[in-house]
Amino acid sequence: MNFRIERKGQGVTKSLGLWAGLLLAAPAHAAPALMPLPQSVTLNGDKMLAIAGPLRADMRGCGDATPLDRAAARLNRDVFKHTGLILDAKTPVAVSVTCRDATGGVDAGEAYRLTVGASGIAIDADGPTGVLRAFATVRQLVGLSPLGIEIPHQTIGDAPRFGWRGVMLDTARQFISVATIKRQIDAMERLKLNTLHLHLSDDQGFRVESLRYPKLNAGGEYYRQAEIRDLVAYAADRGIRIIPEFDVPGHSRAIVEAYPEVGSVSKTLFLGQPEMALNPASDATYRFLERLFGEMAPLFPDPHFHIGGDEVSKTVWADDAGMKALMAREKLADYKAVEAHFLRRAAAIVRRLGKTMIGWEEVTGAGLPKDTIVQAWQTSNAMADATATGHRTIMSAGYYLNLLMPADYGYGIDPAATSAAGLTPEHAKMLRGLSPLLANFVTDALVDFPHAALSPEQEKLLIGAEAPLWGEIAPDQLIDHHLWPRAAALAERFWSPATVTDKADMYRRLAVVAEQLTVSGLDDRANQQRIAARIAPNDSGAVANLLAVTGPVRNMAHDHRIKAMLAGKRFVQPLNALADAAPVDSLVARRFADDAARYAGGERALAGALKAQLADWRDNDARFQEVAAGNRMLEAARPTSELIAALACAGLDAVDAVEAGRKLSPAEVDAANKLLARLEQEEAASWRPFDAFIRPQPAADLIVKIGPGVRTLVDAAAAK
Ligand code: ACM
Repeated sequence: MNFRIERKGQGVTKSLGLWAGLLLAAPAHAAPALMPLPQSVTLNGDKMLAIAGPLRADMRGCGDATPLDRAAARLNRDVFKHTGLILDAKTPVAVSVTCRDATGGVDAGEAYRLTVGASGIAIDADGPTGVLRAFATVRQLVGLSPLGIEIPHQTIGDAPRFGWRGVMLDTARQFISVATIKRQIDAMERLKLNTLHLHLSDDQGFRVESLRYPKLNAGGEYYRQAEIRDLVAYAADRGIRIIPEFDVPGHSRAIVEAYPEVGSVSKTLFLGQPEMALNPASDATYRFLERLFGEMAPLFPDPHFHIGGDEVSKTVWADDAGMKALMAREKLADYKAVEAHFLRRAAAIVRRLGKTMIGWEEVTGAGLPKDTIVQAWQTSNAMADATATGHRTIMSAGYYLNLLMPADYGYGIDPAATSAAGLTPEHAKMLRGLSPLLANFVTDALVDFPHAALSPEQEKLLIGAEAPLWGEIAPDQLIDHHLWPRAAALAERFWSPATVTDKADMYRRLAVVAEQLTVSGLDDRANQQRIAARIAPNDSGAVANLLAVTGPVRNMAHDHRIKAMLAGKRFVQPLNALADAAPVDSLVARRFADDAARYAGGERALAGALKAQLADWRDNDARFQEVAAGNRMLEAARPTSELIAALACAGLDAVDAVEAGRKLSPAEVDAANKLLARLEQEEAASWRPFDAFIRPQPAADLIVKIGPGVRTLVDAAAAK
C-alpha cells in the first residue's frame, strides 16, 4: 500500500505521520479533519471547488441507484447541517460516480478514489458501498469560507485495512430505544464503521419480540419484530450490517426465569444469587434453541449469528441431575467439556439456519466448525490463539468503551498485535498476591503473555475489530456520550493503515470530528447538559464548566454495584451523577495543554488567552461552591472544584512569572508540584483493571484533567 500525502507541483511526498506538520503549513481552509485517515491524499495546489448548489450525483455502473440516491440526499442534508447554508438548486455541483462492480455488501467494494477539481467531484468506487465511504469523506471535506462552501482540489485514494469494523451496543442490560440506535448508526456511517453488533439477551432481559416464546418478553422492554426489520433496513441503507447476539448458555437468566424447563439453577449462591445457565443435558433445551433461533435468525438477514458463549460458570451445572448421565454418555470429563458439547450442538443449529456462528473467545478450543468466528475480548493472546486454531477472528480486547479509557488508549492497540491488551504477567502476579478473592478472579485468561507475531496465515484470519460498550453504566440517555467521539478514533484504528499512529494528530482531528458529529445530530452534548441542568437547575453553567475539565474514573471504578455485590448486597445505581456526565476525553483540557506547550515553546502571544482560560477556571469555584452548598448531588465534588481552582492559580502564577521574566520561587514550585502530584495519583488510581478495589479513588469519581497543561506552565516558569 502507498501511504502518502502529496502537494502537486512541489513534488513533496509525506508519510501520514507528518500530516499535522504539512497541514499547519497549508492555508487554514486546506486543513480538513479526515477520520479515518485515507491511504493517500494529494492536494492539488491551493485551488478550491466552490459548492454553490446541492451535490448532484450521477451514478454509472452502480446497480440499483435508489439507495445511493438516498445516500446523496443524506450527504446534502449533512452539508446543510455543517454549514447552515441553504444552497441554490439551480446551480448544482456535479458528482460523477462510477462503480467498477455493481455488487453490494457492507464489506465488498469499499475502496474508492475521490477527485475534487474545477469541474466538480469524481468518485471511482470499487462497488456501491465504496460510494458510501467516499460520501463520508466528502462530508468531512466541506469547509466554510466567507463566500460560501468550498472544498480544496485534491485526489484521495482509500481502502479499508479490515472488512469488519464495528461497535457493540448492549441493549440487554439497559434497553436502548430505536431512535437512539439510529442516531448511532448515522454517526457510524460518517466514520465508515460497517458493523453494529447488538447484545440482545442477557440476565436482565430478552429484547426481541418472540411470538414462539412470548414469556421471554414478559419482564421488560423489547423491540417488535417490525422494529427490528426497520432497524436492519436503516442500517443496510448506510452500509452497515446488524449482528444479533443471543447469549447462551451463560448470561441467560432472562431465558431461564421465563422457561425454567430449559435451565439449570445452582443450589449454591454466587454473589448472593443462584447461578443459572441453559441446561446442556436436556433435549428440550436444543428444541427450544432450534425454534427460538429459527424465529430470530430470519429477522437479521446478515449471514452471521452471534451466540455469545462467554463467561459460563463452571459450577452452575453441578447440581443438575441429568448432567452425570450426559457426561457418562458423551464421555465428557468436566464442565468445560460439557460447555463444548453444548456449543457444538448450538453450532449445528446455527448452521442448519444457514448462518455462520460467532462466539466470544471462550468458544476457541470447543471443537467447533472451522468457519466459526471467534471474538477475542480479554487479551491479544486470545486473538492470536483463535487465529492459530484456524478460526476467523474479531478483536475486541483493549477496545471496551465502557471501561472509560481515553481515546488514545484503544487507538494505541493494533488489532493484529499479539501482546498488547490484557493484564501484564507482573500486574497479575501482584493482584493475586493481594487476596484469595482477587486470585480467584485474576485467571490466566486475563493475562497477556509475550507471544510470537501473527503468521501471514493468521493475519488473513483476523477479519477486523469491534468496540463494545457494555450497558451497566450506559443507559439510553448516555449512549451517545459514551460511544462518541471515542468510537471515531477506533474507527480510524480499524480502517486506516497500521502506520497511522500519531496520537496528537488523532486528537487534533478528533476535536473537529466530535464537533461535526454533534452538529450532525448526536445527543452527546445534550446528554451532558441534561445531567448538569437536572442537578443544578439554578446554575447548570457552573456544573458544565467543571464537567468540561474533568473525566470519570475508569475500569469500573464508577460502578458501585460491584463492591455492593461483593458484599452480598443489591444496589441499583442511579446513573445521573457528575461522573456519568463527565467526558472521558476532556478535549477542552487537551486544547489547553496544547496551547500551554506552544506558549512554553515561545508563542508568547498566547499569554492572554491562557490567562483568561485559567481565570475562568479559578473563578468558577466560587460559583460552583455556591450552587453545591446543600445540593447533595454536588457536595462530593466540592474538593474537585477547589482543586481545579488551585491548579488554575498555579498556572496563572506561572504565566505571570514568565511574562515578568521572573523565575517561580522554590516555595511556589513546591506548592504547584504537590498539587500536580496529587492529580497524577488520581489519574493513576483507576488506570488499570482491579484498581478500583485496591486504591482510593478521587472525590465524586472525577479526575481533574488540566494537570498536564498546568505542569507545562509551571515547568516553564521554574526553568526561567
Ligand atoms: C464479555 O465481555 N463477557 C464478552
